[in-house]
Amino acid sequence: MILIAEALLDWYARHGRHDLPWRQTRDPYRLWLAEIMLQQTQVESAKPYYDRFLQALPNWQVLAAAPQDQVLALWSGLGYYARARNAQRAAQQVVTAFGGHFPDTLEDAVTLPGVGRSTAAAVLASAYGQRQAILDANARRVLIRSHAIDADPKAAATQQWLWTLASALTPEDAHGYNQAIQDLGAMICTPRQPCCPNCPLASRCMAHAQGRSHALPVTVNRPLKPQRCAFFLLVADMEGRILLEKRPDSGIWGGLWCLPQAAPDGYEFSILCKDTLHPLEDTPAVRQFLQEAWSRRLRLDLQLVALEKEQQHVFTHFQLRFRCAHARVLDSAVADSAATLRWYRPADALAQGLPTPIRRILGNLGGGR
Ligand code: ADE
Repeated sequence: MILIAEALLDWYARHGRHDLPWRQTRDPYRLWLAEIMLQQTQVESAKPYYDRFLQALPNWQVLAAAPQDQVLALWSGLGYYARARNAQRAAQQVVTAFGGHFPDTLEDAVTLPGVGRSTAAAVLASAYGQRQAILDANARRVLIRSHAIDADPKAAATQQWLWTLASALTPEDAHGYNQAIQDLGAMICTPRQPCCPNCPLASRCMAHAQGRSHALPVTVNRPLKPQRCAFFLLVADMEGRILLEKRPDSGIWGGLWCLPQAAPDGYEFSILCKDTLHPLEDTPAVRQFLQEAWSRRLRLDLQLVALEKEQQHVFTHFQLRFRCAHARVLDSAVADSAATLRWYRPADALAQGLPTPIRRILGNLGGGR
């Protein structure tokens, strides 16, 4: 066997995280779900979600048939909700196109929504014992350091090179090796504090030999994230229930319940903000605009009473700056009975699939968890 693989498997046998819930199974559904949850989430954050999700939705068929609201509520707080929507679409595809079985080729597996090459490979290796190489963030960092690769890790040519390397190094026992390289990346070869004295690859690691473990992978300065701005409406009815609006299916918060925004498509709002450096400033014109836009769209007689100070939330691809607007309803009418608008008691609202910043806002109202 290739020496790196041997050293890694030996280390994994003694120090690996064998008790992780998805390491107790060869069930493709459970393995796939773990890989999806772990795509942008740390192991410790994902664990409780993983267990809850599996209890509620234990197999492809149940997930495929579940109400989308239930899936999103189970995902709420994990972030990157496209993963949840894709997961349900993938389950539906497994049921309808693959007879209820996770496909057994890389080619078919990557046709599932949300399943890229590395995720597909991880499932095929663990569920079916195939020799398939992975290249997630942990594996990538280990390979870049052990081979002292100076190139931009995100560049297409580097990716291709790393895939070739990963494939060449992966042994027959790809299941064990893949877990091992993930654990080494998470426990020893960490992004900021690599612990080289404890590393089973130290004697073969080129970055270590060159004293450059901390300097690799290289970081490439990327352009600043674009900014988006929004006002969120906080309005309660006579019973203290908060008005939430379900977002359309696509987009970053697709299908989640959200506080109504000033202009969900950003169009009217971008006109209002044109030529101003302070798109969230508090002026009588802005207040009037918000009050009228919301009253009209939600069919409520609203009076804006206060604007909170600006807050922000950073996403992978942009930064959201927002302010909450507090309003009173002047009559006792309820909003449009459209399925996309609903009054929720604060505690019930928190049980829905909510974007993280909205959960924070509602949590600060004193309504619960
Ligand atoms: N990150 C991605 N997949 C993982 C796995 N199977 N175990 C631990 N961390 C992971």
